[in-house]
Amino acid sequence: MAVKIQGLKDNARKTAVSELNARLADSLALSMAIKQAHWNVKGPGFIAVHELLDSVYANLQEHIDVMAERVQILDGVAQGTAEVVAKNTTLKEYPTDLTSTADHLKAICERMRDHGGKLRAAIDTTDEAGDANTADIFTAASRTADKDLWFLESHLE
Ligand SMILES: [Fe+2]
Repeated sequence: MAVKIQGLKDNARKTAVSELNARLADSLALSMAIKQAHWNVKGPGFIAVHELLDSVYANLQEHIDVMAERVQILDGVAQGTAEVVAKNTTLKEYPTDLTSTADHLKAICERMRDHGGKLRAAIDTTDEAGDANTADIFTAASRTADKDLWFLESHLE
């Protein structure tokens, strides 16, 4: 049975579900790329980068859970399987042949930047559609993405 939320237009709900699932796919793809980097990095700054990647991963997981649960609250179906994520993510495929810390950091930063930009667009889309709460979820995720991008980029010259 659908949760009865008062004062939320059907169009706002549908827009929010679709935006949430789109950013969920990217967040999950990004989180897997971050683990790939965490496991495979080698070279200068290894321990700092290895550990930083895990904290970025943990931050991302929190927002992933909030986004997926918001889909349920809005009577949608959270789409988080590997198969759906592989089909729906808009992020560039993460290479499996990288080893150096610099190469991994560059590849992760490029995807974080892309993800951050799309989160920002989703804030406006859901806000304009009339779901300020979903816009707020994207705002929080976007603020974390900006901060983590700063942390990651600070390890690159
Ligand atoms: Fe680990």
